[in-house]
Order: sequence, then structure tokens, then C-alpha cells
Amino acid sequence: MTLDDIQQIAVIGAGLMGHGIAQEFAFAGYQVHLHDVSKEKIREGLDRIRDNLQMFVENELAQPSQIDETLDRIYGSDRLEVVCREADFVIEAVTENLPIKQEIFRQLDGICPAHTILASNTTALMPSQIGELAQRGDKILNTHYFNPPYLIPLVELVRSPKTSDETLQVTYDLMVKIGKTPAIIQKEALGFVGPRLQAALIREAFSIVERGIASAEDVDLVVRNSFGRRLSVAGPFQVFELAGWDMVLAAFEELYKDLNSSTDVNPLLKEMVEKGELGVKSGKGFYEWPPEKIEEVRARMDRALIWQMKEKEHGRKRDQKA
Ligand SMILES: NC(=O)c1ccc[n+]([C@@H]2O[C@H](COP(=O)([O-])OP(=O)(O)OC[C@H]3O[C@@H](n4cnc5c(N)ncnc54)[C@H](O)[C@@H]3O)[C@@H](O)[C@H]2O)c1
Repeated sequence: MTLDDIQQIAVIGAGLMGHGIAQEFAFAGYQVHLHDVSKEKIREGLDRIRDNLQMFVENELAQPSQIDETLDRIYGSDRLEVVCREADFVIEAVTENLPIKQEIFRQLDGICPAHTILASNTTALMPSQIGELAQRGDKILNTHYFNPPYLIPLVELVRSPKTSDETLQVTYDLMVKIGKTPAIIQKEALGFVGPRLQAALIREAFSIVERGIASAEDVDLVVRNSFGRRLSVAGPFQVFELAGWDMVLAAFEELYKDLNSSTDVNPLLKEMVEKGELGVKSGKGFYEWPPEKIEEVRARMDRALIWQMKEKEHGRKRDQKA
């Protein structure tokens, strides 16, 4: 199996992540089948793809003709067997629920051709768990995207002990071909790399607020205007190697003793969920979320992510010319 054997893609689940994943493959020229149990979700997914592509056109990341060309390559269906009969590569992006995902992988294993690679976009589950009821363990892995998938380049490729080198290589090549930045996670672990690091950060952030060291607003202010800026251009290891590990050792030896290392979720987080303070979903969390504020923050994030996409695209064109 090589990259050239992959012609047809299937995406299972047309929600927040699935529609964006389907969009990227179709935009790159692949024929894509998009499946959901809900016909309404498929329609909504296709509408969202049109809106996303319109935004790309407005920001000179796509030509106007690419909107219809991309949508013409996506076939929606609520019948799993139709979607997967001829698929060479399948990405599952349904609700985060282990029994549902296991059952889908069991069905895919029966429907798809023998060579088909089956990937899951799960945030936290391991590929060995998801593929437990399927026979083709060597062709199963996680492809973990970040939201929104069409604006965030990284995909974590998580292998289980059974995933073959060939499956990993073909998936890696496929992701590079459609413009993603794949990172290989060699050993499956809960939360892989990205979600683990975010969980560690948010544990300490909650602890800072709970202990009254700073408000949630000020924690956000500090991150956005200091190390958050650096982290998008140099990872934590690069940043600290610029500083020197001796300095890091001296600073952290004392500091670590005072950091939160609890294996329980912070009581403040539990309390907020019990009170229904869920953030945007309920209109209140640490912040009040009237519709105009939601719009403002989302627009700010989109603008910054689009700007980074444009930088990446310019860099790619510069490299091609050189
Ligand atoms: N939301 C994020 O930021 C994010 C980021 C990375 C990964 N993920 C992962 O991606 C997956 C999907 O998350 P989402 O945010 O897109 O959820 P979502 O609720 O927006 O979409 C899930 C879709 O799956 C469909 N579905 C449910 N059961 C199905 C079945 N048996 N067959 C076919 N379709 C089915 C639902 O109708 C829905 O449209 C989850 O595993 C999640 O952990 C989410």
C-alpha cells in the first residue's frame, strides 16, 4: 500500500470536526464521502463547508471557483455501507463515546476493502481501544486534529502497538500531501501530546485562580501576551534551550514544589459545572458571554489563525521558488 493507492476518502460524522476534515481532503482534490446518522447534520456540514470556503476566498486562500469544485467532490450519505464500500482511507469523527466508536470500527472492518486504513479523530481514547472489535489492527491509528481543522495545521498520528509502519507512513504521506503538519506519537497514551499539555496548563491555571493568586482574566492576559506568543513560533523545548537548562533547573527546583500535582480535577471546575457555569454554552463561566462577545472572540481567533495560514502559504510558495 502506497500513497498512490489512496483515491477515495470517507469521513464518518459530519459535526464540528468531521465537516472540516472532509473539506480539507476535498479541497486538496480527493473524492470524499461524508457520512452521518443524521441527514440534517450532513446538510449543515455541507453549508458550513461552503461558508468556510467563502472565508478562504475573502482572505485570498482560495479562488472563487474552488468553492463549487470542492463541494462537487463531497458526497453525503446516511448509509455507512455506501460511503465505505470503496474507501481507501476512513476518518471517524463521531461523538466521543467508546462503545459507539468500537461498533463503527467493527462495521467498517466488515464493509471496507482489506487494504483500507481506518483512523479515528478521538481526543482522548487510544487506537487499541477503538479498534478492539476489528480484525485489521495493523491498519488502525488515530489522526487527532485540532479545531478548526481547516485552520490548524497539526495532526497527531497516534499508533497502537499493532499499527504497522506501512500504515503510519502512508498516513503521514497523505497528510503532508493535503498540506497538514503531521506529528508521530510513537506510543499510545491517554491524551497523546497536545491534550496532555493543555490539561497540565489548565490544571495549574485553575489552581492559580482557586488560590487567589490571580483572576481568570489576568491568567488569560498573561498567557496571551507573553509565552503564548512565543509558543506558536518555537515549542517549549526550543524556548528553554534558548534560555539554557541550567537556568531552568535552578528556577524549577523550588517552583515545582508549589505547583499543583493533584490527580483529582480541581474542585473549582467541578463547582462551576454543577452551577451550570459552562462558558459559552450556558452564557457564563469565568466570563459573561453575551452573543456579541462570543462573536468578537471567535472573529479575533479566526483572524489570527487565517493570518498564520497565510504566512504558512507564503512560506510554502517561497520554498517552491527557491
Ligand atoms: N470539538 C473539538 O474541538 C475536537 C477536537 C479534536 C477532536 N475531537 C474529536 O472529534 C470527534 C467528533 O467531535 P465533534 O466536536 O465534531 O462532535 P459533534 O457532536 O460536533 O459531531 C459528532 C457527529 O457524529 C454524529 N454521529 C453520532 N453517532 C454516529 C454514528 N454512530 N454514526 C455516524 N455519525 C454519528 C453526530 O450526528 C454528529 O453530527 C470526537 O471524538 C471528539 O473527541 C473534537
